[in-house]
Amino acid sequence: MLTKELVDALNVQIQKEFASAYLYLSMSSYCEAQNLPGFAKWLRIQWQEETEHAMKLHDYLQARGGRALLHGIEKPPAEFKSAFDVFQEVLKHEQGVTASIHGLYELAVKSKDYATQVELQWFVREQVEEEKNATEIVELMKRVGDSPAMLLMVDRQLGARARG
Ligand code: FEO
Repeated sequence: MLTKELVDALNVQIQKEFASAYLYLSMSSYCEAQNLPGFAKWLRIQWQEETEHAMKLHDYLQARGGRALLHGIEKPPAEFKSAFDVFQEVLKHEQGVTASIHGLYELAVKSKDYATQVELQWFVREQVEEEKNATEIVELMKRVGDSPAMLLMVDRQLGARARG
């Protein structure tokens, strides 16, 4: 049986995953409006993945006899300085999510809740991937600089992203 503290913490994480989805959808809309369909597609896939993360935790919580209680989601920012700015924000955001997952894992260890630890290991690994992907795009964007041709090339590259 999950402790009340873990139920509450899992519910907060569900909210964070949905908030991530909301943020990435807003970023996707921004990129689409900037005529960057590849960036928009990449972020839209990310929106979908974040929704799946939230639902994975939701279903786990319910399966363990906890109750998923949905928290409110703040309005995400709608405007960004550039596509580079968007991906700097993505990286910062993912680093925050990693810290949050690690905090949750620490709580599961402290609570001696082995099943939750196993469930969260998937998220720990996923965050390694999330940060790696965002870092690679930020580094790529640093090389783009002010070149519209390079930006177009990166847009094509990101547009080739398929569902992971
Ligand atoms: Fe669900 Fe991007 O972390």
